[in-house]
Parts: sequence; C-alpha cells; structure tokens
Amino acid sequence: MLTISTQDFNRLVTFMKGSYGIDLSKKQQLIVGRLSRTIAEMGFSTFTEYVDHILNKKNPQDIEVLINKLTTNYTFFMREKTHFDFFQKTILPWLEQTKKNKVLSIWSAGCSSGEEPYTISMILKEYFGGRYGSWDTRVLATDISQRVLGTAQNAVYEEESLKDLPAGWAKKYFRKSKDTGLYTVSPDIKANVIFRTFNLMDPIQFRLKFDVIFCRNVMIYFDGPTKDALVNRFFNATVPGGYLLIGHSEGLNKANNPYDYIMPATYRKKL
Ligand SMILES: C[S@@+](CC[C@H](N)C(=O)[O-])C[C@H]1O[C@@H](n2cnc3c(N)ncnc32)[C@H](O)[C@@H]1O
Repeated sequence: MLTISTQDFNRLVTFMKGSYGIDLSKKQQLIVGRLSRTIAEMGFSTFTEYVDHILNKKNPQDIEVLINKLTTNYTFFMREKTHFDFFQKTILPWLEQTKKNKVLSIWSAGCSSGEEPYTISMILKEYFGGRYGSWDTRVLATDISQRVLGTAQNAVYEEESLKDLPAGWAKKYFRKSKDTGLYTVSPDIKANVIFRTFNLMDPIQFRLKFDVIFCRNVMIYFDGPTKDALVNRFFNATVPGGYLLIGHSEGLNKANNPYDYIMPATYRKKL
C-alpha cells in the first residue's frame, strides 16, 4: 500500500470538491486503500505522480476511474419504495389534472446504472395505462459516470436487482434470457428514458423545468455548502408545485432550503 502526504491529500481533496462536489476531507484512509492499486496499474509509483497527472492532464477517463473508486454506484429497482408510492398516488394524479399539454418533465439526477429511471418509467406505464399513449412521459436520466450510463443503456440486470419490484413486473417489463438468467428491460420502458452525462456541479440548463427531480443517494458525498448550492439550482429548475426527492438517509439544511418539507426525503416548491 502507498502512503499519501498531507500536501497531495489536500490537492486531491480540493480538486474533487471544486470540480465534482465530492467531499473527501475525512477520507484519507479510503483514498489510500482504494487508489493504491489503480495508481500502480497506471505505472506510477507515488501519490505525488498520480495527483500531478490527474491535476495537469484532467483526462476524463482517469477522473472517472477516480470517482468510481471513491464513490458508490449501488442501486436497485424500486429502491426506497415510499417515494414511488407517493409518486404514483399523489404526484402523478396532480400532474394529470394540471398538465394541459400532457408533457411531463421528470429527472433522475445521479441515475447510476438505470434502475431508478426505469422504475419511474414502469410506474408511469402502470399509472397511465390506456392513457399512456397520449402523454409525453419521457424521463431524463443523468450521471457523471460514463461507465454506469453504459450499463444503464445496456439495460441488462441480475435477478437480485429486481427483487423489490411488485409481483409480476419482472415478467411484464423485462425479457429473461434462458441462457444467462439475466433480465433485459422491455423496449417501451427503455425508450421512455433519455440518458445523458451531466455533472451536478454544472449549471442546470435543460430545455424544460422539472415537475419532479429524483436526486437520491447522490448528495451524500457533498458537503453542506455544495449541497445547499445544488438544491438552489434544483429549485430554480423546478416548476411551481414541483417536487424534489432525496435519499432517506440524507438531510437538507432547514435554514437554506427553499422547498417546503412534505414528508421524509420529499420536498415541494410552492404552487
Ligand atoms: C449511489 S448512486 C444513486 C443511484 C440512485 N439515484 C439510487 O438512489 O439508487 C450515486 C450516483 O451519483 C453519481 N454522482 C456522484 N457525484 C456526481 C456528480 N457530481 N454529478 C453527477 N452524478 C454524480 C455517481 O456516479 C453514482 O452513480
């Protein structure tokens, strides 16, 4: 295992926080533990050489490896089900009543390998049923990691990831391969999700404001000011009455939060 000097540690922490919002200030051991092998595989013999390389070259592939090593992409279908119940029983009926143009604008921000936006897509299909065809229900799904977006677009999953879906959905919304036992998301559910690379530190400049933003289990890596600033950018990109859903283990700073609190991990912009 390599060692990292205070100076190299601080250089890396400052870069990751400034560019990606990821707060590693208390993660010195994690950095050494998770990066030592990668650094050796890249042909460097010290952290100083590696940090110099990252900061000077800013090579997107190397930075992505760095982010992937230090954060988690863990996710599964129907994760934190209370949100999806609320989405189906409260948010969608409100949207159906109020959206005269029948265009929805839903964002899965930090979508990882796609389980979250595909779950949303399945719920949209369930909710609208026969009315589905007359609505534009496309879901925008973004992540900083090309690797997870590749998996998302591939849309092939292990059975384990589907275990929290309601009975019958695996059959209804996936095709199971007899050879591999893996499940592929059905074409209509897949076609309803648009995947894009997006760094949540960047200005939010999408064409439409959002009715619902799912940003769950992403801000865990961000420190208070970074999180506050992102929540404010989300707020400006939310329609009046629109929702922000965050992970149930995450909290928002009460003093600086422009949304109204609705229930745990669920916030709404005033109508
Ligand atoms: C644990 S996953 C969350 C997946 C899903 N939202 C869920 O709740 O299951 C966190 C994701 O956030 C992404 N992420 C971390 N920092 C990011 C940033 N600055 N911009 C965009 N995505 C980021 C990671 O790449 C990872 O895929």
